[in-house]
Amino acid sequence: MKKALLTLTALALLATTAQARSWEDIKKSGTIKIATEGAFPPFNLLKGKELTGFEVDLANQLAKQLGLKVQWVTQPFDSLLIGLQQDRYDFVIASHGITPERAKAVDFSNPHYCTGGAIVSRVGGPKTAADLKGKTVAVQVGTTYLDNVRKVPGVKDVKTFPKDTDAQAALMAGRVDAWVGDKFTGLDLVKAQKGKLVAGSLLFNESIGMAVKKGNAGLLKELNAALAKSQSDGTYAKLSGQYFGTDVRCR
Ligand code: ARG
Repeated sequence: MKKALLTLTALALLATTAQARSWEDIKKSGTIKIATEGAFPPFNLLKGKELTGFEVDLANQLAKQLGLKVQWVTQPFDSLLIGLQQDRYDFVIASHGITPERAKAVDFSNPHYCTGGAIVSRVGGPKTAADLKGKTVAVQVGTTYLDNVRKVPGVKDVKTFPKDTDAQAALMAGRVDAWVGDKFTGLDLVKAQKGKLVAGSLLFNESIGMAVKKGNAGLLKELNAALAKSQSDGTYAKLSGQYFGTDVRCR
């Protein structure tokens, strides 16, 4: 009986919150709620109390352009899209590759950058997909890196970690043969561990987008317009240059 009651309460709660905030509602409130992970440098990183990174700065700029204040929410990467479906925030910016699978669950903005998944290993370690044969690879859970490494024939074991930085640590500690992650993150990693790690080849390319709740077309339109404006007025190019020394937009 008690259980049935609880279930009903849960359902009622879901019913009252099941509607994503429309663009009009967001605009009226004056504040947009944005979610990210905060553990994926140089894209989104919580440093002490400060949230930084290319995506954090970009989203702050887009919100400013839309005349909105921002309320940031951070949560584990693999629960970000679920929280969107539960209306815990208005959109997610956390380096999600736009995949057909994810596009079934959420709607993606136009890509806010283009990148790829790359191999990094210790000096003398595997550098190409073919080299991964018989090797152990570390990746962050719930990512396109996991999906793509699984497709490489002959990989001995794929170890998943809640955070990408944990997967990197496993490589440094010698607990895996290689790490597969974002190519820009990989470059930073190799630079930071000079002489110890080497950058391998690119396994796949991907376009990265912001995610809104499925069907929230009004918000999507505003986000795309704000992104287009920042890409045409030089704001985006400047920010991208600061983080990457190059313009990372999709071409
Ligand atoms: N680009 C990869 C993907 O789409 C990794 C994203 C990881 N993002 C993060 N905030 N940890 O799955």
